[in-house]
Amino acid sequence: MRGGQYKTISTYPRDPDLENQKLKHSNRGMGFNFLSILSLFAVGWALSVIGLGAFTRLMDAGLGCPDWPLCYGHMIVPHSPMIDKYKAWAEMIHRYFAGFLSILIMAVIALSFFKKYRNRYLMIYSLCLIFLILYQIILGQLTVTLKLMPVIVVGHLLGGFLIVSVLWLIFLNSRFPFIPKRNPISIGVLIGIILLFFQIILGAWTSTQYAALSCPDFPFCFNAHPFFTMDFQNAFHFFVQKGVNYEGGILSDSARQTIHMMHRVGALVLTLYLFLFTYLMRFHLKNAIVFWIWGMLILQIFLGIVNVIFKLPIFTAVSHTIVAALLLLSLLTLFFFTRRERQS
Ligand code: HEM
Repeated sequence: MRGGQYKTISTYPRDPDLENQKLKHSNRGMGFNFLSILSLFAVGWALSVIGLGAFTRLMDAGLGCPDWPLCYGHMIVPHSPMIDKYKAWAEMIHRYFAGFLSILIMAVIALSFFKKYRNRYLMIYSLCLIFLILYQIILGQLTVTLKLMPVIVVGHLLGGFLIVSVLWLIFLNSRFPFIPKRNPISIGVLIGIILLFFQIILGAWTSTQYAALSCPDFPFCFNAHPFFTMDFQNAFHFFVQKGVNYEGGILSDSARQTIHMMHRVGALVLTLYLFLFTYLMRFHLKNAIVFWIWGMLILQIFLGIVNVIFKLPIFTAVSHTIVAALLLLSLLTLFFFTRRERQS
């Protein structure tokens, strides 16, 4: 791989004056500035909210406070022998962190409208953030009131991944001047992002259906014993009854094993695609980002296998969620740079 080489695949006639003008305009926000620092901080904070969300679920504390947004009608967990204070605190800390994240996001949105930073992309990202915050508030409430209904919890987790992604795009956009360029390679990166998104949905479905321990061995489930039968119909039945408490999961063993194994198959497809694509396109991609993606991918598979073999240790389970988010940010970075005009 050639060190740091980064080639444009497609070229189209350019007007040098116009290009210079565009560069000058975009250089206004170049380098670290208040918006890029704030959005970077918000990305870090959003990752910790995602981690805390995973921790809360793994502690079976998702219903630690049965009401929303207060906990048993209070801002902090009240003292009562009837209340499991560890679970209630896990849930409340997640809510406080999410509350502060909303404030950070408002600040990022407000700054994006300042003349110094304003551009078309930042406006679109800000609108997405406004929509996503409202979406997360509604889903956060439904997660509690619909008693961890899987489709809601998955939607809530995806909302978190989308928020961190948009914040990251705001960071990239405010840190590196962006002039879009046509580049067919970006389509290949986009396919990778879509595959990763499906893999994240499958992972979230595995965890919200409590299927993590349904296949205790690796690479096959019960060593591909004949009693392991796939049950696709029940495994991916999204719309289920209201009023049921989904904590601990309600699906049959075979449905859970199907979900679990589909997540592994998804990992295989994603890994093959990403390795093959980045290897074949290595002369056109930024080396540092490609190596980072490979590292994240290997770490993620390692964490997944440790989760299975050691029966979901809390540290590796939370790390598996955070590394999935980091992988998504890495692919978005690759996408951003393949679509960005190179500057001298
Ligand atoms: C390489 C791509 C992979 C990605 C992007 C990925 C992503 C995810 C995500 C986002 C979750 C949901 C976490 C949550 O709800 O907090 C998850 C759960 C899970 N993944 Fe993966 N995963 C990958 C590979 C694997 C592999 C190879 C294995 C095992 C062989 C594995 C095993 C698991 C298990 C057991 C869970 C459930 C954990 C829980 O209940 O908290 N994953 N994965």
